[in-house]
Amino acid sequence: MVDKVWRNFQTQLKKIKSLDGLEEVEIKFLGRKGQVNKLFQQLAKIPASQKRRQGQAINELKQKITKALAKKKEQLQLRLADELAQENFDVTQPGREQQLGHLHPITQMKWEIGDIFRRMGFEIFEPQEVSDDYNNFGALNIPAGHPARDLWDTFWTREGYIPITHTSSMQNWIYRHRRPPIRAVVIGRCFRHEATDASHEHTFHQIEGVYVDENVTVANLIETMRVFLSAFYGKEMEIKVRPSYFPFVEPGLEIAMKCVFCNGKGCSVCKNSGWIEILGAGEIHPRVLREGGIDPEKYSGFAWGLGLERLIMLRYGIEDVRRFHRGDLRFLRQF
Ligand code: DAH
Repeated sequence: MVDKVWRNFQTQLKKIKSLDGLEEVEIKFLGRKGQVNKLFQQLAKIPASQKRRQGQAINELKQKITKALAKKKEQLQLRLADELAQENFDVTQPGREQQLGHLHPITQMKWEIGDIFRRMGFEIFEPQEVSDDYNNFGALNIPAGHPARDLWDTFWTREGYIPITHTSSMQNWIYRHRRPPIRAVVIGRCFRHEATDASHEHTFHQIEGVYVDENVTVANLIETMRVFLSAFYGKEMEIKVRPSYFPFVEPGLEIAMKCVFCNGKGCSVCKNSGWIEILGAGEIHPRVLREGGIDPEKYSGFAWGLGLERLIMLRYGIEDVRRFHRGDLRFLRQF
């Protein structure tokens, strides 16, 4: 009997992994109702001649178990101390940074571009995203029925409001709330009822700018655009101007910049022309100034509209505008 309890104890001893486990085994063998006490109880039933020897054997067993448990306890405590030491906890270390996400590339670029224009003396605005016929069209010399309205595929709300088709929608508000000299930039979302493809999205961002003062000319416009593009692309940019038409400017212009990919030599991105069309602009139409309460006899100005997504795509070689809204983390994490 004594031998059997001892072997049983040894197998259980090997399995002990923690101080809690150790206590369990201790109770099982040395507790009041434990195996050793059971042996002592059985002593009463055995012949008197064997009692002495058997009693001694049980006492020895009890000592051996007690010793073995004490040794195990010491080992466990040492190991615990070791583990704690290895964790090497230094309370003076700064906390570990947690990556919970980051700003969308559009937001990052919006801020970066805003900073560039702010340094150039412009005030930055966000557009009112839902506006009306007057601000989106009428005040910009595009009356109802004017064929130029076909240039913008407009959404309408049931109440007759317009999710803005361009950030030019803020021009009139700016003229009415600022006095010349006016330098303002509007960066924000626009919406068009448009079939989407690699270069068209129904929701996109524009950077509108206006500059109104005495004797402002197209030369000021061209230099302003050149300085901005050079700052954004981090190298001197050459630009090229050609005539275009927008109802709110006269003359109207399109500005192209030297292709950032081939440096003007001609490649697939610039369709071998060496130039990339980047923005619409022009001298603000006198009717638009007058509509904003500014005397076109005294003041002149220029305005431009840049596509934000296009600027970013050219900077990073992104081939499809739809990537910006897909929410694909493999794309977003690269910024
Ligand atoms: N609003 C025009 C568009 O969305 C872009 C534009 C062209 C803005 C010429 C201007 C401008 O301020 O002068 O197509």
